[in-house]
Amino acid sequence: MTGLEYNSTTGEPFLRLPAPFSSFIITPPRMADVARSVEIMNDPFVFKWMGRSTPYSVDLATAWLMKVKAQTDVAVEELRNSTEFGPVSGCPVRHIREELPDGTDVFIGDVGLVRSGWTEVLDAEERVRFVTENNARAAGDPEIAWHIGYYLAPGYNGRGLMTAAVKTIITQFGIPQMNTKYIRSSAFEGNHGSLKVLQKNDFVMVDTLVEHVRVGDEKTTLHLMEWRAS
Ligand SMILES: CC(C)(COP(=O)(O)OP(=O)(O)OC[C@H]1O[C@@H](n2cnc3c(N)ncnc32)[C@H](O)[C@@H]1OP(=O)(O)O)[C@@H](O)C(=O)NCCC(=O)NCCS
Repeated sequence: MTGLEYNSTTGEPFLRLPAPFSSFIITPPRMADVARSVEIMNDPFVFKWMGRSTPYSVDLATAWLMKVKAQTDVAVEELRNSTEFGPVSGCPVRHIREELPDGTDVFIGDVGLVRSGWTEVLDAEERVRFVTENNARAAGDPEIAWHIGYYLAPGYNGRGLMTAAVKTIITQFGIPQMNTKYIRSSAFEGNHGSLKVLQKNDFVMVDTLVEHVRVGDEKTTLHLMEWRAS
């Protein structure tokens, strides 16, 4: 059964993380998150693992948030218009927020469960073919390849938060409302925290692409990880 709830004041959907993380929720992105996302992404601890060679700007963040908000808006609409419990084509929530005692919340990270973009496939034609075929699959198709990606603001690391966020979005929305059976992910060599988050959520390493991804002048090794429903 889905764990999706709705904010009684704003109508915004959200997933709540389980104890001891119950002050953290996952909601749709908001355009007000631009400044904070720039701050988080440019923190050296986060930046080094995100595959960027130039600083993350307000313009890039604005364009990214418009894109992902458009995706979550579609899912929110699908849910609003559905008369019965049925599969939806995408996930309506991805931004992790900490609820504060005064009733406000603060954006602290991202956990996106989206259709795979096969970004590790270097041949552009092949990549477009995979993406087009996958995006054409109807809501609930068990063959859809999903992708999960995430980051957390420094200061929130190392307490099990992302392990819980990944588990929550898969078990409380992906499986019950998108019929998710197959998820792909990846992490750069040396990103022990990210690999551990995936392994603790039953992902297994299926390939290691040596010096595969160009980041600035360097080529980085990428571990490919997969989760399949048992
Ligand atoms: C990777 C990241 C999301 C992990 O989030 P987190 O909430 O700190 O992870 P968790 O606390 O759930 O940790 C899961 C496991 O990884 C371990 N771990 C976390 N960070 C680690 C690190 N930097 N080095 C080694 N192990 C680490 C934890 O100890 C835990 O293992 P344990 O349960 O055996 O103790 C976070 O560090 C981050 O945002 N990093 C920068 C961005 C990034 O790398 N994004 C992913 C790109 S693929």
